[in-house]
Amino acid sequence: MNPPLQVVILAAGKGTRMNSALPKVLHELAGQPLLGHVLGAAAALGAARTVVVYGHGGEAVPSAFAGSGAHFVLQEPQLGTGHALREALPALAHEGITLVLYGDVPLIQPDTLRAVVSGASAGLSVLTVKLDDPTGYGRVVRDAAGRVLRIVEQRDADARVAALREVNTGILAAPAGRLAAWLARLTTDNAQSEYYLTDVIALAAAEGVAVHTSQPAQPWEVMGVNSREQLAAMERTVQRETALRLMTAGVSLADPQRLDVRGTLDCAPDVHIDVGCIFEGRVQVGPGARIGPYCVIRDSRIEAGALVAAFSHLEGAQVGSSARVGPYARLRPGAVLGQAAHVGNFVEIKATSLGEGSKANHLAYLGDAHIGRNVNVGAGTITCNYDGAHKHRTVIEDDAFIGSDTQLVAPVRVGRGATLGAGTTLTKDAPEGQLTVSRARQLSVPGWKRPSKNP
Ligand code: UD1
Ligand code: CA
Repeated sequence: MNPPLQVVILAAGKGTRMNSALPKVLHELAGQPLLGHVLGAAAALGAARTVVVYGHGGEAVPSAFAGSGAHFVLQEPQLGTGHALREALPALAHEGITLVLYGDVPLIQPDTLRAVVSGASAGLSVLTVKLDDPTGYGRVVRDAAGRVLRIVEQRDADARVAALREVNTGILAAPAGRLAAWLARLTTDNAQSEYYLTDVIALAAAEGVAVHTSQPAQPWEVMGVNSREQLAAMERTVQRETALRLMTAGVSLADPQRLDVRGTLDCAPDVHIDVGCIFEGRVQVGPGARIGPYCVIRDSRIEAGALVAAFSHLEGAQVGSSARVGPYARLRPGAVLGQAAHVGNFVEIKATSLGEGSKANHLAYLGDAHIGRNVNVGAGTITCNYDGAHKHRTVIEDDAFIGSDTQLVAPVRVGRGATLGAGTTLTKDAPEGQLTVSRARQLSVPGWKRPSKNP
């Protein structure tokens, strides 16, 4: 059995270069705070306990993740990465393996971390990477036999060490008890007068403890965020990876560089997505469905063969198989479109089911309504669902025909097969199979003359 794993995420730093009132780890990447990505990686490892060390930005960080199950430890003042981990010790067990992650290194993948953790069973395990330009990072110093001796920070490095290209990613793992003993021996005898976590490597090596190193599967996994420019570049990296994954799964993307997924997008094969679409929350798209350009789709399900045309906006909606939506449609929470239903331009639908084969093709508001099958909703139809205090329901039964420019003053019911004449203001139920119309009879006045200035 593997020893229990505990994860510490260091997230107390200021993030000066973000130039922001928001703590750095709360800035969003692919629709989720940076720290959320790291917590997700910790959860994927099945960590028995996760501790987040926070400082700058105060309670904003713990309150943003109040429901995450993580423990939060305040580091105040911030005296370096070694000090940060030392502050976390009271919240940690003395047994098992401790894995250290960084709140601003969000793309780290569980498989890479598993290799780091398994390296720690024999001693100390460090994730390193070779960089063409190692500027700014701690350098990994090895002896002639290739054994790791220590990590030297940029500011403490001489020219020979500065020329080394293998750098410390910051991510490491060690047996909890040993790590605590090394942390107790850290000093601030360095260029920044800080407690460097990286000094535990030299302490371990001096004790003859094996220092195991491993590398990330992908170089972008260990990229950190220090500025908004780096955050924007990382966003592109994440989106590129998402686009590649979708294409591998059989999705056609008109342009993989013009897709933004800020959550999870599950697509069946042969889905086609045009340029400029944004997917938020959890979106599912069935086989052969097509999403036109510049749609924004959040927390919705689109079934097989449906079409969502350009500039449509969906939130909390369900679109049935072979249905057509848009262009310029707005589906709000609780919009449920049946099979082959049609919703056209400038139609807004909220908390309303539109049955199989029913159509609302132009300029309508349908709210708090149940609409049966094969109903035709004419242009300009409005459900008057709100009386200023309460919402009321409208029911339209199968095969009804709602003439253009109709107001349905809810609560009201339109019977099966009923027809409402154009311009009707319906305040009472319309009986099934009949024509109901509420407008003044048309009248023409013979001999009437329009007023004129020159009689
Ligand atoms: C650190 C490593 C360096 C490594 C680099 C990788 C040390 C001494 N150096 O340097 O070897 O190459 O990361 O990016 O560890 N933090 C706290 N409390 C503190 C100080 C920092 O929680 O008192 C957190 C920060 O929020 C951040 C992380 O620790 O998430 C790293 O801190 P940072 O100051 O960026 O370390 P570097 O100087 O980049
Ligand atoms: Ca850093």
